[in-house]
Amino acid sequence: MSRTLKTGVIGLGFFGSRHARIYTDHPAAELIAVCDSDPGRAALVAGETGARGFDDLHALLALPELEAVSICLPDRLHEEAALAAAAAGKTILLEKPLAHDAATALRIVKAVEKNGVRFMVGHILRFDPRYVQTFHAAAPEKLGTPVHLRAKRNGIRATAKRLGASSSILFYMGVHDIDAMQWIARSRISRVYAQKVELLGTGNEDALYAVVNFENGAIGNIDYSWAWPDGLMNGFRSTLEIVGTKSAAYLDCTDQGFYVVEEDGTSGGDTHLWPEINGRIAGDLADELDHFVKATLSGKPYVQHYREALDAIPVLDALARSAQTGVPVEVVR
Ligand SMILES: NC(=O)c1ccc[n+]([C@@H]2O[C@H](COP(=O)([O-])OP(=O)(O)OC[C@H]3O[C@@H](n4cnc5c(N)ncnc54)[C@H](O)[C@@H]3O)[C@@H](O)[C@H]2O)c1
Repeated sequence: MSRTLKTGVIGLGFFGSRHARIYTDHPAAELIAVCDSDPGRAALVAGETGARGFDDLHALLALPELEAVSICLPDRLHEEAALAAAAAGKTILLEKPLAHDAATALRIVKAVEKNGVRFMVGHILRFDPRYVQTFHAAAPEKLGTPVHLRAKRNGIRATAKRLGASSSILFYMGVHDIDAMQWIARSRISRVYAQKVELLGTGNEDALYAVVNFENGAIGNIDYSWAWPDGLMNGFRSTLEIVGTKSAAYLDCTDQGFYVVEEDGTSGGDTHLWPEINGRIAGDLADELDHFVKATLSGKPYVQHYREALDAIPVLDALARSAQTGVPVEVVR
């Protein structure tokens, strides 16, 4: 690969700062600009990476040499940045969820299509070896017809408190599993029945359970929580299983295979998502950005078409409505 992709990052918080580091270390990417509405953060990351710092995303997008941009803003701010990036003709990597509701997600997709720009949504599980292998194990010739699926994603109270009203259990965590279940089952969710509970006073839901129906006849079960005490090892537990007429497959991300034991207890470390290994960020996020850079430069398709990412958002809307009303809800597409 002879040329490099000139990249930028908008939003330099927990995730955007990691995108910036990965582009800086990538041999086929050149991070030329970073932006955060907090000028101190923008200056800090600019200093660390050598990129130009901006506190206005429109100023960053006005750079003619900028080719591609990661948008790592809170969910409810995805639309303004994505529409501006599409209008500026930039290739876009938009962090999940595509948007915080189906109407907004569709507006983003239409803007991308109208402007003819390339677009990828950051569904990191599409790069996680455990999920990708489960997808392959669930191929129809091996699994037969899907009968039932179960997905669990449980996090800690500190996350619910940190995000407050900027996201929700469904849009921050749930989007991962809705996308993964539809991808692995090779079928879309058509109907949902959800219930939620709010007892802890974090300013967010504590837990949401749901039964879902797939277009292919399978049923699914979803278990979301961020009610776990903050001492939960690694801060999250996630599992997924699919049972078919011929075989079954499952994965369990609870055990990351690495522990530190001290006088006051045992803790774990991230070995898969974005661990720091030999001075650089490795794992699923690095693989996702590597794919984004290489597929953008080569013109090859991204592993997930954005229309598949779009398919998750009406399911989240339906789950929220069902949990609110207490009755089953059809997914409107
Ligand atoms: N794929 C994953 O596993 C994963 C993990 C974490 C976060 N995310 C996604 O990444 C996105 C960002 O999440 P986060 O946890 O980094 O949030 P964060 O709150 O840590 O960071 C957001 C940053 O955006 C900045 N910002 C806010 N408004 C801005 C504006 N108008 N212009 C420029 N900067 C602005 C804030 O100052 C902050 O630094 C979310 O969509 C989230 O869902 C994905």
